[in-house]
Amino acid sequence: MNDNPCLLFMSSLDDPDEWTRALHEAWPEIEVRVWPDVGNADDIDFALVWKPEPGALRRFRNLRLIVNLGAGADAIAADSTLPENVPIARLADTGQAEMMSGFVLLCVLQYHREVQRLEVAKRARRWDYVHPKAHADTRVGLMGLGYLGVHAANVLTDMGFRVSGWSRTPKVLPQVETFAGLKELSRFLANINILVAMLPATSETYHILDREVFYALPRGAKFINVGRGSTVDESALLQALLGGQISAATLDVFETEPLPPEHPFWLMDQVTITPHIASVAVPETAARQIVANCRRLLSDESPEFVIDRARGY
Ligand SMILES: NC(=O)c1ccc[n+]([C@@H]2O[C@H](COP(=O)([O-])OP(=O)(O)OC[C@H]3O[C@@H](n4cnc5c(N)ncnc54)[C@H](OP(=O)(O)O)[C@@H]3O)[C@@H](O)[C@H]2O)c1
Repeated sequence: MNDNPCLLFMSSLDDPDEWTRALHEAWPEIEVRVWPDVGNADDIDFALVWKPEPGALRRFRNLRLIVNLGAGADAIAADSTLPENVPIARLADTGQAEMMSGFVLLCVLQYHREVQRLEVAKRARRWDYVHPKAHADTRVGLMGLGYLGVHAANVLTDMGFRVSGWSRTPKVLPQVETFAGLKELSRFLANINILVAMLPATSETYHILDREVFYALPRGAKFINVGRGSTVDESALLQALLGGQISAATLDVFETEPLPPEHPFWLMDQVTITPHIASVAVPETAARQIVANCRRLLSDESPEFVIDRARGY
């Protein structure tokens, strides 16, 4: 019999010691067990997991909450071996949101300030003066206005960029022109200079960024993908880049990761490739949110940020 709340940590990608420290800081009484040293399986109240082995969570009969160690829930939502009666929550970590918004801002500023043109000019020893434009001259479109999308929208509007956003259901956000659903997609795309995809991988978003979407943007638009690779039809993007419809892209996520060495994106000057590093969970801040959610269950409140398994996010 274990009186203290007990959390099982199960991720081969994250440092268990760092997470245990952060969880103890947020909740000194919590006992953290690290997979595969689970002890008595009946003690486990909560599981903090990233891509758990299929079926591995079935033996924890007293599990009250599964926390996905990430914002993207595609892997866990697709796992049919997880107990159906236990809610799955995703991370909603302020540290991760800051990191993601920082990455988006970095990419947006690089395009707005034409950093690539300046690098080319520097290599040619050319003083390439072009009068700088105001941030308000650039319209950024965010596809996805979820936890991370809204944070990025706030950071971009604070910096003076004009921001539009698109989501599945209608949203009202200060200083953001919002659109919802497929019916409003082409209106959303019509006057965007930089499109940022921050969508989850679901059956509905599969290849949602297709030829039609790229050609609904003004010619020469830039594209940034920090959501999931499966949302982009990569051959349509390749054609749009080769034809100049999309003048440059920064891609952090791909249909196949790692991106295969023979992929044409590697050789394209107008494509920046980053290896799925736009943002990660920050143990210190994430642990506070995880603990608050676990505590809600102990006081018979519903957990927050629960994934809708059927919807896929
Ligand atoms: N590259 C990286 O390092 C990295 C790191 C973290 C996360 N991510 C990715 O970023 C994604 C977004 O994170 P988040 O926390 O903002 O997710 P979230 O809170 O689940 O929000 C998802 C957003 O996408 C919208 N959406 C979903 N399906 C849609 C559809 N069919 N049509 C239109 N809009 C749709 C949702 O609309 P509603 O608001 O109407 O529901 C919502 O606004 C994650 O799913 C993950 O895949 C990537």
